[in-house]
Amino acid sequence: MTTARRTHGFRESVIRGMSRLAREHRAINLAQGFPNFAAPDLLKEAAARAIHDDINQYAITWGAQRLREAIARKYERWYGLAADPEREITVTCGATEAMISTLLALVDPGDEVIVFEPFYENYGPDTILADARPVYVPLEPGQPLDLDRLANAFAPRTRAIIVNTPSNPSGRVLTRAELEAIADLCVQHDVLAVTDEIYEHIRFEGAHIPIATLPGMRERTVTISGASKTFSVTGWRIGWIVAPADLTDAIRKVHDFLTVGAPAPLQEGVATALDELDATFYEALTAMYRGKRDLLHSALDSAGFRCLRPEGAYYILADYTGLGPATGPAAPDDTAFAVWLSREVGVTPVPGSSFYREGGGRSYVRFVFCKTEEILMEAARRLRTLRDDGSASGAREARAPEPAVDSGLQR
Ligand SMILES: Cc1ncc(COP(=O)(O)O)c(C=O)c1O
Repeated sequence: MTTARRTHGFRESVIRGMSRLAREHRAINLAQGFPNFAAPDLLKEAAARAIHDDINQYAITWGAQRLREAIARKYERWYGLAADPEREITVTCGATEAMISTLLALVDPGDEVIVFEPFYENYGPDTILADARPVYVPLEPGQPLDLDRLANAFAPRTRAIIVNTPSNPSGRVLTRAELEAIADLCVQHDVLAVTDEIYEHIRFEGAHIPIATLPGMRERTVTISGASKTFSVTGWRIGWIVAPADLTDAIRKVHDFLTVGAPAPLQEGVATALDELDATFYEALTAMYRGKRDLLHSALDSAGFRCLRPEGAYYILADYTGLGPATGPAAPDDTAFAVWLSREVGVTPVPGSSFYREGGGRSYVRFVFCKTEEILMEAARRLRTLRDDGSASGAREARAPEPAVDSGLQR
């Protein structure tokens, strides 16, 4: 039997493949972006209560009323952004479903969608599933956005731009000036902004500015976020979309046919968290991730990787040039280096090329720091063996004790 052509260019998620490799080599899995520590009790208790209270049937397809109202209060409180929970908010199965439902609802076959590179690995396939064409614009860690290149990417077929800030994998937080420049181009070319703000509360530098709050953008922005990262519940699959009523109307239809709705009792848990967790929770979240970022960054830096401290999200994109089994013309590519690091050092990253078009990102690997301090310290200890001679000889012997790395969650 033949399979649909639209799937033929898709690669299996490299991140899942790396996790298998980590298990095989008993390596610390710094490939997958999920926390290995507990979610707040408040959420878990509220969700458990909802199950016991028999909130176990389909929620309203576009989201339980209580959660949509809590989301509206959140946007008003944090960003002064008013959204009507009846007509402008949709609860989805994660930001992942939010993005594909949005593109399927709003982008026509043959349209172009601007995507910053390096990119979160779903955006290319999402665009292709919508029969549209991704157009890439570079946005590297530590580099300002090249506004001329961005302006050149806007063309007659451009329908949307995907804006991910804070960004996975670059760690960039777009500045107000950069967001204003993107907004100006969107207004000028009548283009939609589809934002992925899933890391809005994991940010170390700058403010989080939803592009929807900039002049002329409210009516042309689809704001996507969710509970996965802020509340450490990636397995719950609760995300949401805030968009003008006409766009929401189309998005809700696609969402209904794709998934019917997000898990009802878990929506109750997230509503409780949004309403009841106060500033102390968010400050503690940032402080916790800042500590983890600094720990991993200094481990990578002293092991000889070249990397910047990310401004937000929980990833470090690191240049490994000069490290590994061979340097010069025989140097390994990013996949070979990631495999070697897993096997010889016992730490598994993701090859950088997963975040670039064909041929890009070959000198990078990406590490996550959403892990307990114990795991990160053990990773740092293993990475120190690289500093000694650049080839990690003896690291394998130094690999005990084995920390509990995988919490059983798989992606
Ligand atoms: C940029 C970005 N968007 C979306 C997601 C997935 O979010 P969700 O769990 O809400 O589907 C991730 C997860 O790694 C991500 O890094």
